[in-house]
Amino acid sequence: MVPQASLTSFFNPRAIAVVGASKTEGKIGHSVVKNAIDSGFKGGIYPINPKETEIMGLKCYPSVSDIPGPVDLVAMVIPAPAILPVAEECGRKGVKNLVTITAGFKEIGKEGLERERKLLDICHRYGMRMLGPNCLGMMDTHTPLNVSFAPGMALKGGIAFVSQSGALQAAILDWSFRNGLGFSRFVSLGNKADLSEVDFIADAGDDPNTKVILVYIEGVTDGRRFLSVAREASRKKPVIILKSGTSQAGAQAASSHTGALAGSDLAYDTAFKQAGVLRARSMEELFGLAVAFTNQPTPKGDRVAIVTNSGGPGIIAADAVEANGLAMARFQKETVDALRNGLPPECALYNPVDLIGSADGARYKFALDLVADDPATENLLVLLTPPDQAEPMKTAEAVVDIHRRHPDVTVFASFMGGERVAGAMDYMFKNGVSVYDFPEPAIQSIKGMVRYGKMRQLAAVGRPERIEDVDKKLVANVFEKVRDDHRRVLLGSEAARVVRAYGIPSAPAVLARDPEEAAQAADSFGYPVVLKVASPKILHKTDVGGVKVGLKTPEEVQKAFVEILDNIHRFLPGHVIHGVEVYKMMPQGTELIIGLSRDLQFGHLLMFGLGGIYVNLLKDVSFRLVEGLTRNEIEAMISETKAYTLLRGFRGAKPADVGAIVDALARVAQLARDFPEITDIDINPLFAYEKGEQPEGITALDVKITIS
Ligand code: COA
Repeated sequence: MVPQASLTSFFNPRAIAVVGASKTEGKIGHSVVKNAIDSGFKGGIYPINPKETEIMGLKCYPSVSDIPGPVDLVAMVIPAPAILPVAEECGRKGVKNLVTITAGFKEIGKEGLERERKLLDICHRYGMRMLGPNCLGMMDTHTPLNVSFAPGMALKGGIAFVSQSGALQAAILDWSFRNGLGFSRFVSLGNKADLSEVDFIADAGDDPNTKVILVYIEGVTDGRRFLSVAREASRKKPVIILKSGTSQAGAQAASSHTGALAGSDLAYDTAFKQAGVLRARSMEELFGLAVAFTNQPTPKGDRVAIVTNSGGPGIIAADAVEANGLAMARFQKETVDALRNGLPPECALYNPVDLIGSADGARYKFALDLVADDPATENLLVLLTPPDQAEPMKTAEAVVDIHRRHPDVTVFASFMGGERVAGAMDYMFKNGVSVYDFPEPAIQSIKGMVRYGKMRQLAAVGRPERIEDVDKKLVANVFEKVRDDHRRVLLGSEAARVVRAYGIPSAPAVLARDPEEAAQAADSFGYPVVLKVASPKILHKTDVGGVKVGLKTPEEVQKAFVEILDNIHRFLPGHVIHGVEVYKMMPQGTELIIGLSRDLQFGHLLMFGLGGIYVNLLKDVSFRLVEGLTRNEIEAMISETKAYTLLRGFRGAKPADVGAIVDALARVAQLARDFPEITDIDINPLFAYEKGEQPEGITALDVKITIS
């Protein structure tokens, strides 16, 4: 049966049942029923336990089938061996959703894996959706409903938190009570046998009660679907993800924890960037951003104004602004003049505005009003250290007032200290100002918010494009021949034909079997030419005397052909070669690289950067996933590299034809889309020529293609 796509009956069921409900305090089956009752859920709650007739004042049923009315959601808290028949019974009863809290599935090995597979089979057969197994449960504070054994119900708010670690979630919940942080939804994914982060991101994207989507995962379940869902959701609201398992040690822990196969981190980074997802690097950053996005507008730009009562923290914050790629706001003359007229002469009037240690609440208020009114102030950070003259509470009131009156400016505060500032910090936090103990994390949050604003702008432009003027048939034929030959790696001349079939100019190349054929090919190209031994197995052809360059006559070509064969016989006796390839020698251009590799989780990954022999040393490359790639993103990937500086015309050189490079990248992406069997492409070097000179545009010199 096709499962329902919407999670409405999951988060807002008409009635729920708890199988394994218990009277015994301390048992998970007890906590789940208690939480459901305490949450204020308005639908029916049915405890299921064959030994009881009543639990916590509710009528208890021996089994799900005995419940008189419909039940949309069943929580299972019985030992693993008892799960399958109960799930089957739920299916027959017409239950729509299961929350399987029980552990003892995939995470315990073969036996558990088999049990999980059978459980999923049952879900599919009856069209049921399932959370878990091996999870803490879920809550929706707006329904309200709590089907979990978490320590209580989350406070009502705008953050949807989806986590692959239940234990972490319990800790966050506890922490959130102390900090007054509210959630819309709280979902513990467990083993993700059916419902995964992708389903919950999609649903939270459409949930009017959710302002920010927060995710902790150890790995993505379905990379392609994740990309399209996260891209869609992040256009509507911020999606912030903390993905653990980035270090080698972390990756091992992740796979033993929930059996998650951590994909390569680079692919994750690229996927998040392309989907408009913000990647947090720590729990602190994850929640710092969540709080900021809940209370602040998306920044209009990256300019930050800082107001402080001491120089040191002001400078630290200004340094952090620069280190995080943000800009210090430059106030207009009127603002500086007005500050000068109203402040003591010792104060610093330019950003950071230093009100000096004697600043009281009134002085802060005066300066904040002027600074917030300045059009350059897009983000405001207020710093305070508590000397005797400081008035933390009065200052906090001034900050909150600014936050209220300037809904388009993000307002952050860091009042450093302990007891003296605690009340003021609390007051600001409760009134929507983002507060931090120290300036640097505040700047980090501003950076994250600015990045989201920019990503959203970028995501809004351009659709993935298809390129139609390609010769698919020719490429299919080449690949077929390679497979017939029991090869995976194409010869250089074959690879050159493939890229040419996709509209990427490449140096003319022909495979010659004897010296005469080679000379004929050279005649047809025009001189000079290059000869290369044709053998995909020889990686460093120059080292074995397999390359001859700058050949100017038919005689030189024939002689070089024979010399190459001799060298191969001498250096690699018994090595079978396909012949010698003749290439037209192209004039030198800026050496670039276009590469492609295949990631298990997210598909093809496109690479661009500075090419030549120092690629691995210089590592001046950028990446994008082919899936959903837009022209804007290709342009962005080029501009991220240092090679871009060269291409724009460095030290008197004319600029290159960047449009031709964008086109070549789009065409390689199209090739990958059309031929998923391609595992690797290396076009290195790709020569880029100066605009207006001859030759023009680009030429692929050396192309390597591997297929599976
Ligand atoms: N139908 C209805 N009730 C049943 C039942 C069935 N088929 N089978 C057992 N029960 C009852 C039991 O009689 C018991 O009720 P009682 O307290 O009145 O005796 C209750 O359900 C629970 O069964 P019990 O055998 O006592 O199990 P338990 O409470 O010790 O453990 C789990 C059950 C699910 C909690 C446990 O197996 C488990 O998986 N724990 C780990 C959970 C976890 O960590 N999840 C991941 C969190 S991130």
